Amino acid sequence: MIVSGSASQALSAALSAELDEELSAVEFERFPDGEILAAAPGFDADRAVVVVSTVSATAHVETLQLQDAVREAGAEEVVTVLPYVGYARQDRPAKPGHTVSESPPGYPVSARAMARAVSAGTDRVVTVNPHEEFLRDFFDAPARSVDAAPLLADPLPDDLVDPLFLAPDDGAVDLARSARDAYGTGDVEAFEKRRLSGSEVEVTAGAVDLAGRDVAIVDDIVATGSTMSESVEHLRQAGASRVYATCVHPLLVGGALVRLRRAGVEAVYGTDTVERSVSAVSAAPAVADALRTGE
Ligand code: R5P
Repeated sequence: MIVSGSASQALSAALSAELDEELSAVEFERFPDGEILAAAPGFDADRAVVVVSTVSATAHVETLQLQDAVREAGAEEVVTVLPYVGYARQDRPAKPGHTVSESPPGYPVSARAMARAVSAGTDRVVTVNPHEEFLRDFFDAPARSVDAAPLLADPLPDDLVDPLFLAPDDGAVDLARSARDAYGTGDVEAFEKRRLSGSEVEVTAGAVDLAGRDVAIVDDIVATGSTMSESVEHLRQAGASRVYATCVHPLLVGGALVRLRRAGVEAVYGTDTVERSVSAVSAAPAVADALRTGE
């Protein structure tokens, strides 16, 4: 049975259809003291697939509660799907704004702490593009990741002119290449990015000719939108024609979408690992493949 967290209902339903595996009832309550309760009333299956994008502290608690609930109800196997792995960007023990070597002792590797907690209640973990592949090693349970970047080619128009798949930094080149391969044609290039603060970045382009070209920027996460909007502005100033902002995880915090529109983006597309209005494509087929193989 598929057991959905509150932030992953569309993806869980799509996964249920993809795998032809029943969708469990779920209930979410909040007590007067602020504590939450996530439950799967009536759960009755040998295998539970708990699907929770850990987009918030609440979602982290839901994950642990749902894992416990299905074990309590007799599940022999618990698979935990984290379509979006929260805290993944805190993968080093650093004080905000400082490098690891500058930081005093006493800072956590938050991604590892979260992974350990999730591991305690599951037999295995499936993640989708977890920011850095080495995050899988933080889990004590077997963990694998799924690449949803090829799906980002789906919503793009078929008539892109001289298409360029652009990574806003080196870390996204593989994603841009996956999306280009799925689209079938186009070049792959990367900008250089320097982060100035939590919501400000600076991007610089290489020698690539952008005039008149349609560009799909491909990244793993759009959070504040600073990386994408800087890239869009840069591309527009360099004469690019239509610019599409695509990402696996459209977190879109604060005014990110407005920021992108103001920068001149043609459209923003993401997957449903984070369920937003721009979630134009479902990661369910990619996740379903990982669940079918049973590794
Ligand atoms: C950074 O390494 C990531 O790949 C994304 O580029 C970043 O998380 C995007 O954040 P923001 O939207 O705040 O620039």
